[in-house]
Amino acid sequence: MITTFAVSGYRSLHDLIMPMSPLTVITGENGSGKSNLYAALRLLSDISRGQMGNALAMQGGLPSTLWAGPETISKRMEKGEVPVQGGPRQRTVRLRLGFACDATSGLAAGYGYQAELGLPSPSCSYFHLDPEIKRESIWNGPKWRRASALVDRHGPLLKRRQGRKWEIITQHLSTFDSLFASAGSPIDVPEVYALKQAITNWRFYADFRTDSHAPARTHRPATRTPVLHHDGRDIAAAIQTIIEIGDAEALHRTIDDAFPGSQLIIDAPQAGMLTVALQQPGLLRPLQCAEWSDGTLQYVLLSAALLTPRPPALMVLNEPESSLHPDLLPALARLIIKASEHTQVWVVSHATRLVSALEEAHQCSSMQLVKNLGRTQIAGLRDLDKPPWLWAGG
Ligand SMILES: Nc1ncnc2c1ncn2[C@@H]1O[C@H](COP(=O)(O)OP(=O)(O)OP(=O)(O)O)[C@@H](O)[C@H]1O
Ligand SMILES: [Mg+2]
Repeated sequence: MITTFAVSGYRSLHDLIMPMSPLTVITGENGSGKSNLYAALRLLSDISRGQMGNALAMQGGLPSTLWAGPETISKRMEKGEVPVQGGPRQRTVRLRLGFACDATSGLAAGYGYQAELGLPSPSCSYFHLDPEIKRESIWNGPKWRRASALVDRHGPLLKRRQGRKWEIITQHLSTFDSLFASAGSPIDVPEVYALKQAITNWRFYADFRTDSHAPARTHRPATRTPVLHHDGRDIAAAIQTIIEIGDAEALHRTIDDAFPGSQLIIDAPQAGMLTVALQQPGLLRPLQCAEWSDGTLQYVLLSAALLTPRPPALMVLNEPESSLHPDLLPALARLIIKASEHTQVWVVSHATRLVSALEEAHQCSSMQLVKNLGRTQIAGLRDLDKPPWLWAGG
């Protein structure tokens, strides 16, 4: 389980260290930084998959994602005694992301990882706007310490601790490649392999499309689908996979919970194609997915995502309540709580009814984000309650 997620220098996340639980719920007013937090976690996963450049380019490039406020906000600025203003920079501008796992179970148990991105050095490349990975570190324990570092990357140089010495793995790591692109062999560098396996299976679901042209409403060739695509295009195949190799009974219960007396029906109108329909009380024929209401489609998509037969280490849902009537939110909360028994779940939500239903689960911790002088902070989180954290670069 991930116990800590830390971000520094990303949009409104000037310096945020967040404790994480089996079920973490994030709420907050408009503009408080919920989506920034979701995007930061996603960026961390993109870095490990080698998709950092593209992910940041889609967000307007590194300069636009960097914290736009002053390097430090003094106590006097906080009290309003002096206006917020920048001074001469003491440190290089950096975007930093990291997480730590607890030591109890799982492939990445006890490891932590952090990455530091910076603006590129001047060059004649056409890709001179691509961010560079300046530093990366893997360590053992709840927070980075020099003595507990296992793998360390400084620019192109990647080293691994071997007993009391540091062994060079490569001196030629590309600025745009994370350490996960190199040294991934489970035997050579088990820490890197374990973390890579853990991060690459994190799953993100945000903004399922439910409009009339949504990918989920079109027919697609079907193959076994233990993991629903992030846009829901393979919904029929994902549901049939749950029925064949997953918890079909739980799927039946969760549909009945939201739409009493209704049942999902999978059909194969032609070889290699599957369709999904919903048989509802009072109707003479089941309604095809293309005919469902937006909220029905959203709920079925979330059911297929959360009842996956291959639960990931972490599942992140951004505003899953979209299109759902408030009466459906308790059923959605029950579905999320059930999923959080097998997989760590992170939910960003606006819906008070969903949040209060989730808060009833003993494994849930909910956090409210607030903005203070442009910085996203966790309401009521005292310094003492923050998980331990240190950035490798100081
Ligand atoms: N580069 C930046 N530096 C500092 N703050 C930024 C930067 N870019 C965006 N922001 C702040 O982040 C806020 C948006 O945060 P975000 O989109 O995460 O809000 P949200 O909580 O998801 O809101 P909503 O509920 O409306 O979706 C903006 O209001 C803006 O103040
Ligand atoms: Mg948002």
